[in-house]
Amino acid sequence: MRYDRILAALLRFVCYLESKLGGSIKKTPRKMNSFSNDEFNFTFLDEGFAAKDIVDQKINEVSSSDDKDAFYVADLGDILKKHLRWYKALPRVSPFYAVKCNDSIAVVKTLATLGAGFDCASKTEIQLVQSVGVPPERIIYANPCKQVSQIKHAANNGVQMMTFDSEVELMKISRAHPKAKLVLRIATDDSKAVCRLSVKFGATLKTSRLLLERAKELNIDVIGVSFHVGSGCTDPETFVQAISDARYVFDMGTEFGFCMHLLDIGGGFPGSEDVKLKFEEITNVINPALDKYFPSDSGVRIIAEPGRYYVASAFTLAVNIIAKKVVIKEQGGSDDEEEQNDKTLMYYVNDGVYGSFNCILYDHAHVKPVLQKRPKPDERYYSCSIWGPTCDGLDRIVERCGLPELQVGDWMLFENMGAYTVAAASTFNGFQRPAIHYVMSRPAWQLMEQIKEQGFQAEVEDQDVTLPLSCAWESGIEHHAASCASASINV
Ligand SMILES: Cc1ncc(COP(=O)(O)O)c(C=O)c1O
Repeated sequence: MRYDRILAALLRFVCYLESKLGGSIKKTPRKMNSFSNDEFNFTFLDEGFAAKDIVDQKINEVSSSDDKDAFYVADLGDILKKHLRWYKALPRVSPFYAVKCNDSIAVVKTLATLGAGFDCASKTEIQLVQSVGVPPERIIYANPCKQVSQIKHAANNGVQMMTFDSEVELMKISRAHPKAKLVLRIATDDSKAVCRLSVKFGATLKTSRLLLERAKELNIDVIGVSFHVGSGCTDPETFVQAISDARYVFDMGTEFGFCMHLLDIGGGFPGSEDVKLKFEEITNVINPALDKYFPSDSGVRIIAEPGRYYVASAFTLAVNIIAKKVVIKEQGGSDDEEEQNDKTLMYYVNDGVYGSFNCILYDHAHVKPVLQKRPKPDERYYSCSIWGPTCDGLDRIVERCGLPELQVGDWMLFENMGAYTVAAASTFNGFQRPAIHYVMSRPAWQLMEQIKEQGFQAEVEDQDVTLPLSCAWESGIEHHAASCASASINV
């Protein structure tokens, strides 16, 4: 039975339930049911409600107060959908979520419940993931340059898989964690990626040979190869070349007597639809390359380290206009319609590049505001810039965009704000990070619960999507690798 068909059916079933429930109901804000335990709570989306409605509801709640802090609404059901979509598109690849991308506890718990693995870059990330019950076998310490004390932490906590790309790292690991299972990170041609990583990490093919030789001398186990094509990959052929290079290094490792059985294809997958290269366009190229260089019967386990893919689209940020400046133009003469207006507007909002919008600096993000209040059809537009709240001139979110005239107290929304935003936000100038309100639909929650209890056991044909969920699990199918070891945690 093909997992991709099963998962496609499940994904469509959740979407079907959501759309069915959503279609006929008038959307007026009303009380939501919250679910919570000690450290994690979220709001159930009532029938007919989407995350966007919760944004509106939160805004309405503070409409008559001055307390209009920026906030996020994060849809955990969106993460579930991404997980199902992952296995549909890449049935042979187990995802190890890159925690660095968004380390919110609810995100980690959701993915832990779904049976994902985790890519951790540090002791703190390992602690976070283990604190929700993820067993060490589902963790890869995927930072090729680690502090010795943190390698020892991994050793003391059972985390064995870790990456390396230098001789010094090998020597450190041989002393601090002689039982480690090493994964050699190779460099890729990431020249077309939005965020390049191989300028900093990854061994060349020539160096790989030397490193494998040295590992043998030091008597440390090398189990496989990893790479990262760069975050925001724009050319799927980079994956093909990297997979072929990985094969070459696998063969070298085997020559040296290592039992090479793990391929880690890293991250680089898009997390939203507003990109030129869609997720499936990349995976359609990856799958044949995997089949060619690492066929199913090779016995090689294939994992990946997606970060952005899982979280980008789940998070919507709402910011409030706290100040405004009208700049009167001294002279006209431009052909541009917005420029022809006699004024430009500067809006100052309560989150900026030292907070959530650090993604503009670090992740080369281009963000676009969506107005919470829909403009009238004949509304006049002005050339505007949008600035963060700190006293630094660098703190500019949008250099130029067309917007109607807005007032202090109005809201702007930014979609697709889950990746490399909250995780790297500072409190520079004393501005606190926005609160995050988590939501999930009931069908998504039910499916999560089923996956938590039973793993991916469904055998559902494509046409069976309208079956009650319980039926979807009855036919019995072997467990999917990723969900077999689901953590026992309370979500
Ligand atoms: C080692 C490693 N793995 C995975 C990721 C996640 O990449 P992405 O968000 O592009 O999936 C990163 C991002 O920097 C990384 O450095």
